[in-house]
Amino acid sequence: MHFRPAVEADLDRLLGCVVDESISWAHPERLLSFLESGNYRYDRTWLAVDGEDILARAVFWGFPGGDKPLAMDCLYVHPSAADRVGLAAELLRHAHAAFGERPAYHVFVSNGWRDDPRAAAAIAWRWEAAGRAGLTEELERLRYEWTADEPVPEPSDRLEFRGDDDDEAFVAAFRRVAEGTLDHYTRQALVTMDPEAQARQDVEEYKSMPGERSWWRLAYAKDGSLVGVALPSANNGGPVVGYLGVVPEHRGHGYVDDLLAEITRFHAERGVQRIAADTDRGNVPMARAFERAGYRNFAIRLVLSAKPEIAADDRDPVNT
Ligand SMILES: CC(C)(COP(=O)(O)OP(=O)(O)OC[C@H]1O[C@@H](n2cnc3c(N)ncnc32)[C@H](O)[C@@H]1OP(=O)(O)O)[C@@H](O)C(=O)NCCC(=O)NCCS
Repeated sequence: MHFRPAVEADLDRLLGCVVDESISWAHPERLLSFLESGNYRYDRTWLAVDGEDILARAVFWGFPGGDKPLAMDCLYVHPSAADRVGLAAELLRHAHAAFGERPAYHVFVSNGWRDDPRAAAAIAWRWEAAGRAGLTEELERLRYEWTADEPVPEPSDRLEFRGDDDDEAFVAAFRRVAEGTLDHYTRQALVTMDPEAQARQDVEEYKSMPGERSWWRLAYAKDGSLVGVALPSANNGGPVVGYLGVVPEHRGHGYVDDLLAEITRFHAERGVQRIAADTDRGNVPMARAFERAGYRNFAIRLVLSAKPEIAADDRDPVNT
């Protein structure tokens, strides 16, 4: 058994790996198009090989030209492998050592996957293998979609939406909105980063998405106070809700509905047919808002990730 990154000469064998287990995977069409776009790369596709045969394969995703892989998209083990959990874990350990980090595993399953024995079994062994390789944190994100057969919401009669070319205005708003958030990623980031750096990083990440910066809006109440942010955006798959949030002092008044309506209306008026969005299962006020606004929960994204490591410089000198 030998562990190594793939090379171009492996292509036929890579296309021959088949996952038939009711979960998302890097199927041949996806593999070819992402190798072409640069989202997948041979050197970010790790293999366990026995002579000519691929016994296990881990496919990682990143932005084209990005300096590191951002997520694992597919974990495959050939049915003949005696210990698939052990083999997959070993493969992941090799890939992580080469990358110098452990990208999270993102896997898509349908709703009710826990009650579907095939999907549950497909997740179970991958979960165990990922855990042995250090991906011990689990998060379920609900995937929503709005389609153009739903009514287009009316504009808010209590909020005013304004664009702002100054990124600092959004950094300040993101920082306020992150206070007391129920969003796992933001909470996790705030364990290791100070709130301003976290807000700045979020603004940069949203700017790097394919959506336009000019679409971003700040929302104000009639008294001129800032209520929140509404960022319609897009990713490689098409238009997305992007980000929205309400500052703590304005929570509990249903403003989330006004912000989401603004984003939906904005996309709908550009002729968009489908808007996608994700939120954590634990972010109940957000999930409820999607359901009130005619978004349909069509799938689940399961994310298995490593515990965040606190950089030595950021450690609390008193408590560590
Ligand atoms: C999610 C969010 C936009 C909801 O905004 P909102 O306008 O306050 O939502 P609602 O008015 O519908 O709130 C419904 C209930 O949830 C409560 N609630 C809202 N946000 C809450 C939070 N972060 N923590 C605890 N409870 C919260 C409200 O107080 C209200 O409670 P009540 O029914 O007892 O009055 C807001 O919490 C937020 O900005 N969070 C941070 C950013 C975020 O998570 N964005 C979504 C990323 S996908």
